[in-house]
Amino acid sequence: MKKNNYKDYAAMSRAAADIVVATVKAKPNAVLGLPTGSTPIGMYAELVKDYKAGKVDFSEVTTFNLDEYIGLDTKHEQSYRRFMQEQLFDHINIKPSNTHIPSGTAKDLNKAAKEFEDLLKKSGGVDLFVLGIGTNGHIGFNEPAASMPAYTHVVGLAEETIKVNADKFFAGDMKAVPKTAVSMGLATIMKANKIILLSNGESKNDAIAKIDSQVLTLDCPATVLHMHRDVTLLIS
Ligand code: GLP
Repeated sequence: MKKNNYKDYAAMSRAAADIVVATVKAKPNAVLGLPTGSTPIGMYAELVKDYKAGKVDFSEVTTFNLDEYIGLDTKHEQSYRRFMQEQLFDHINIKPSNTHIPSGTAKDLNKAAKEFEDLLKKSGGVDLFVLGIGTNGHIGFNEPAASMPAYTHVVGLAEETIKVNADKFFAGDMKAVPKTAVSMGLATIMKANKIILLSNGESKNDAIAKIDSQVLTLDCPATVLHMHRDVTLLIS
């Protein structure tokens, strides 16, 4: 595992965008794994700039997002589909049909999760996965737990995640935050060829310290990334 420290959020975001652009240039039909949350917003803004400057072409790219809240319509302000449209997809030349986000509204969520996992497998797998990290060390919505499903699944959110996301995205209203989500599993994530994890700010220090300790524990799901051969942490 490599670790790069950046002087500020802007520098980290630029570096992350450079890695995405290099991946797409090397393989125009690359499959990208993508995160939501506040951390990747700067990277997405840089990617939109690069696209508008003619530096990158997303016309053959396919994307798979990590997770989605259950019960929020795709048009809902806080749905991850809407987030991705607003931060990235609406501003670049990616084919809408090539953008995949787990369904949080399907009648049969388990069946939809399985279909999502199958589609990802059929796509040939993720070339580059960009991850964020929760204050409790979650990746996607794989929350600290004694055990968890390996692949895309329905999951209950940790109290800490509900609180953090309420403060950041739901005006502090914990009741408004969905309590369940659909998330790729750790095995889904670990199948990617290359992984970068973005972490910004002191609230992530504990989780990063647990990764640094090189002890594997599902109490901090991100520690499993040590088992992958090509992971870089980008820290600001
Ligand atoms: C969210 C998402 C994660 C994300 C994390 C960190 O709840 N499910 O995929 O990485 O929490 O969010 P932020 O970047 O806002 O700190």
